[in-house]
Amino acid sequence: MTHNKRILFVCLGNICRSPAAEGIFRAKAEARGLKLEFDSAGTGGWHAGEAPDARMQKTVLSRGIDIGNLRARKFSVDDFDHFDLIYTMDTDNLKNVLKLARNNADRGKVKMLLNESFPESNKSVPDPYFGGQRGFDEVCDLIEHAADNVLKRVVNEQG
Ligand code: 4NP
Repeated sequence: MTHNKRILFVCLGNICRSPAAEGIFRAKAEARGLKLEFDSAGTGGWHAGEAPDARMQKTVLSRGIDIGNLRARKFSVDDFDHFDLIYTMDTDNLKNVLKLARNNADRGKVKMLLNESFPESNKSVPDPYFGGQRGFDEVCDLIEHAADNVLKRVVNEQG
């Protein structure tokens, strides 16, 4: 039996970029009536159990999406079993996730998110944590663009 495609977003802390991606993709998928599952995780566990960074919550909320109920968790090797696609936000996250991959099937699930917007560029979603508001806006713009590309393709696949 087939299941709805499951997509995981991974960044470092799971409090800025990946929860924003989870919320933005979920809202856009729901708006298009697509049946997909989304989750997010961090390669580091320092913020596990925390809500998304208040600055990112506010930035995403200004676009009509509430991510206040999400809670950070650390990426686990079991995630390779549950998810069909694992999108990493930057090249460090990519390296750290690939280090945990057990085989080629695991490795084949891991992709850089921005390759959906800029194919084969391996561009990173910049870490906004130590910067100002512009960085948070830029992260959301990049994620929205990637989400539109991915979901357009899923619409074609799901019919
Ligand atoms: P994220 O951002 O990886 O997009 O969640 C960060 C969150 C926390 C830290 C760094 C980046 N930190 O150093 O605690």
